[in-house]
Amino acid sequence: MQTVNSISAVRQQVATWRQAGQRVAVVPTMGNLHAGHLQLVERARRLADRVVVTIFVNPLQFGPNDDFDAYPRTLSEDSIKLQQVGADLLFAPAVDELYPASQGGQSHVEVMGVSEGLCGSHRPGHFVGVATVVAKLFNIVQPDLALFGEKDYQQLQVIRQMVADLCFPVEVVGVATVREADGLAMSSRNGYLSPSERALAPIIYQGLVAAATSIQSGERDFRRIEAAVQASLKQVGFEPDYFAIVNANTLKPATAEDRLLRLLVAARLGQTRLIDNLPLQLGD
Ligand code: PAJ
Repeated sequence: MQTVNSISAVRQQVATWRQAGQRVAVVPTMGNLHAGHLQLVERARRLADRVVVTIFVNPLQFGPNDDFDAYPRTLSEDSIKLQQVGADLLFAPAVDELYPASQGGQSHVEVMGVSEGLCGSHRPGHFVGVATVVAKLFNIVQPDLALFGEKDYQQLQVIRQMVADLCFPVEVVGVATVREADGLAMSSRNGYLSPSERALAPIIYQGLVAAATSIQSGERDFRRIEAAVQASLKQVGFEPDYFAIVNANTLKPATAEDRLLRLLVAARLGQTRLIDNLPLQLGD
């Protein structure tokens, strides 16, 4: 696996693959790789001839009180893991490479609709930062396909919407969430949890499962379920940002007519913000 830090080196390498008629996939990440990230790379290997992984802790998507400085940076361990799963190219640019100081104000990409609400309301500017960096990475790598985790479901929908709205010639592939044995969704931020918080953390997943079970057994008062799960999370020490039952495509509050739902949660446990979600398909 080759590691490069410059935009021109990525372009050069990808151009030779394209000339050889090879299909190129990109897996954008912020590093500190775990089995969830590696699952994306493994899927990419099956769907494309060449896999580019990007590692970039993107300052544009962190708010002033977010964990940009604390975010774990583990490039040498990440690089070994990527070699083991057979990535072809690692692009790990410095901040200046993607956001040159000379550029002054950064042009940005604002995705309407699905960016609003949920994490969009609780982290102002976050999805502008995500969409902008992903648009830049797409323009740098020019991949045939790009893989994103369902773990960040709203982010996945934002990217899909951006690709549709701006006509990026990129196929977006969503990959199911990889979980720890106790149900906790794998996340680079799980490392922030103290042992006692780590023991409580799976409750967030249990809340999703309980809500899905209650809907499957016929409960259709979605707002009542949302309030009940939020109250139960608060009771055990979480500070929920939201627990929402939404239409899986629009991310608008689900109604009794919706068949394809998504249950989403974001909650703080101490200093750590955790998110998770589940799909739910209803029969007639
Ligand atoms: P990061 O949090 O590093 O995640 C990189 C990719 O891995 C995302 O597509 C995310 O959804 C996926 N992922 C994370 N945990 C996962 C899990 N448990 N199971 C499956 N997939 C998982 O998301 C970002 O970085 C950034 O916002 C980025 C898209 C790179 C833009 O900066």
